Amino acid sequence: MSNHILAPSILSADFTRLGVELSACESAGADWFHIDVMDGHFVPNITMGPFIVEACKRVTKLPLDVHLMIEKPEQHLEAFAKAGADHLTVHVETCPHLHRTLEFIKSLGCKAGVTLNPGTPIGALESVLHIADLVLVMSVDPGFSGGKFVPESFARVAELRKRLDAINSSAWLEVDGGVNAETLPKLKAAGANAFVAATAIFKHPQGIATGIKTLRSID
Ligand code: DX5
Ligand code: ZN
Repeated sequence: MSNHILAPSILSADFTRLGVELSACESAGADWFHIDVMDGHFVPNITMGPFIVEACKRVTKLPLDVHLMIEKPEQHLEAFAKAGADHLTVHVETCPHLHRTLEFIKSLGCKAGVTLNPGTPIGALESVLHIADLVLVMSVDPGFSGGKFVPESFARVAELRKRLDAINSSAWLEVDGGVNAETLPKLKAAGANAFVAATAIFKHPQGIATGIKTLRSID
């Protein structure tokens, strides 16, 4: 029985049928929903804001895992928390006061997540690992679904697993980008326990339920 968390990224959902697609994910065994917020500055794409988080909240009870790919995320944390975000994940590259930002997320009643781009050394997280509830490893350069998986991510996951275990952290170690039936087992073996997937779920040729079940059944 698989024991990992599966978080469909709604970035690849059909937004004309968002409620229906979220229900399909939920019945097939999704654990969280991953919501990719992009501002057209930190990453080249522009996607969704608190309004979509609020809409998702109305149709699901599953935790909403909100990934903020935006500059100055601290200016928007309260709005996302009010909209119903359960986890708020910020990028180290956007946070000059990372420690303060993570503490602020916790004070809003959300789980505090931290992430970093494939090109950012993982040492950038060192001093906040003990307060993070979730550590997200970007395994693509962020901006779009369907990006190219960065193979160095396996080693980065293994290194972060080592560092989290060394401080007895129970933080989720989540991976985002290019997660599919081929990469998931290797990422899991490296120590990850939560997985985001957009293409492998919403664009699965046999449909969303098969996409979820395929990733869910991997041990
Ligand atoms: C990338 C986003 C991801 C993306 C994953 O910038 O953060 O969550 O939706 O898409 P796939 O699973 O297609 O790589
Ligand atoms: Zn994401």
